[in-house]
Amino acid sequence: MNPAQNPASRPGGRDEDLATMRRALELAAAVRARTAPNPWVGCVVVGADGRSFEGATQPPGGPHAEAVALAAAGAAARGATLYTTLEPCAHHGRTAPCAQAIADAGVARVVIAIEDPDSHVAGRGAETLRRRGVEVTAGVASEQSAELLAPYLKHRRTGRPWVVLKLAATLDGRIAAPDGSSKWITGEAARADAQHLRAESDAVLVGAGTVRVDDPRLTVRSDPPPEHQPLRVVLGRAPEGAKVLPAVEAEGDLGTLLDELGGKGVLQLLVEGGARVAHQFHAGGLVDRYVLYLAPAFFGGDDALPVFRGPGAAEVEGLWRGRLVSVRRLGDDLRVELAPAAAAGAESEGVVDASSADGEPGGG
Ligand SMILES: NC(=O)c1ccc[n+]([C@@H]2O[C@H](COP(=O)([O-])OP(=O)(O)OC[C@H]3O[C@@H](n4cnc5c(N)ncnc54)[C@H](OP(=O)(O)O)[C@@H]3O)[C@@H](O)[C@H]2O)c1
Repeated sequence: MNPAQNPASRPGGRDEDLATMRRALELAAAVRARTAPNPWVGCVVVGADGRSFEGATQPPGGPHAEAVALAAAGAAARGATLYTTLEPCAHHGRTAPCAQAIADAGVARVVIAIEDPDSHVAGRGAETLRRRGVEVTAGVASEQSAELLAPYLKHRRTGRPWVVLKLAATLDGRIAAPDGSSKWITGEAARADAQHLRAESDAVLVGAGTVRVDDPRLTVRSDPPPEHQPLRVVLGRAPEGAKVLPAVEAEGDLGTLLDELGGKGVLQLLVEGGARVAHQFHAGGLVDRYVLYLAPAFFGGDDALPVFRGPGAAEVEGLWRGRLVSVRRLGDDLRVELAPAAAAGAESEGVVDASSADGEPGGG
């Protein structure tokens, strides 16, 4: 069909809605590490004359994405279409309600990727807009938006953080030598990626065993340094003088710990090991994403420390099976991201053959 005759590809049609929402998702992804405990949202305002204006959520206390894009659009917002990756808020928080500001600006149509499950919003943003005569289209690129906002959505639905378990292992599934040494199994590119994971997490956790052997700082090392370092959490006690201190030293039930961290506004918890801690989180069904950096190396025996220390499946029927979310080559290593198979969410994306690597060139 001639694209001009295809209603999906007309201005304001499904194709344009999807393409513009994808741009809004890029804007949201770019502020991923800077907005917690607020959601990272992207917004594009397309004026009646076709010009577009962009915004993304500013750090807490600053304007939301919609307010930034509306300010950029000024008078061009009248009669415009506004695309936002999350339903606009309808309540007075630290900033004025976006739904009201959108209607006040004279926006004709709002395209929303997903509803905001926060109890203050939950449909009320869209309802406010409709009541004010603004046309609302919901559900555009909803899977991609839900994937990008997964930590926020889980936190608002359950009160608990999104848990990412990250480990560096050899291809024979070992994370440390029998003497406890594990620096460095993977190369620079994988370690840089792990730093990125840390930067987008609100809290980072390790076990006391790892503190005793590795004495990690668990800080984000970036240039410029981040505005906030993640909260550091040790399971068990850190020895006096440990570099990780000051840290929250926790013990006991992990579910209670997750509730407490959620209550502190932690949207994403990065669990960095070691093997006993990894086993506890995994066996408890508490992991939302597994990120394994796999080096093309073998310890070559059964005396090195495995990824999980503790009892596992007793028979093959009991195998835990995950869903591959992505596989990427990073320098000489592989980054494999898995989700529990039962988890709802986006389809696998970016699962590539290692030979078509999109990793960083020539890394560690
Ligand atoms: N390759 C990698 O990515 C990677 C990452 C991290 C660590 N590692 C390696 O892993 C090794 C350490 O692993 P690991 O299995 O020996 O130790 P670990 O998992 O780091 O820590 C286990 C210890 O944490 C404390 N703990 C755990 N759960 C607890 C709970 N619910 N309540 C209270 N305390 C709790 C206990 O401390 P107490 O013993 O004091 O009771 C337990 O022995 C090191 O060799 C390190 O280099 C490798």
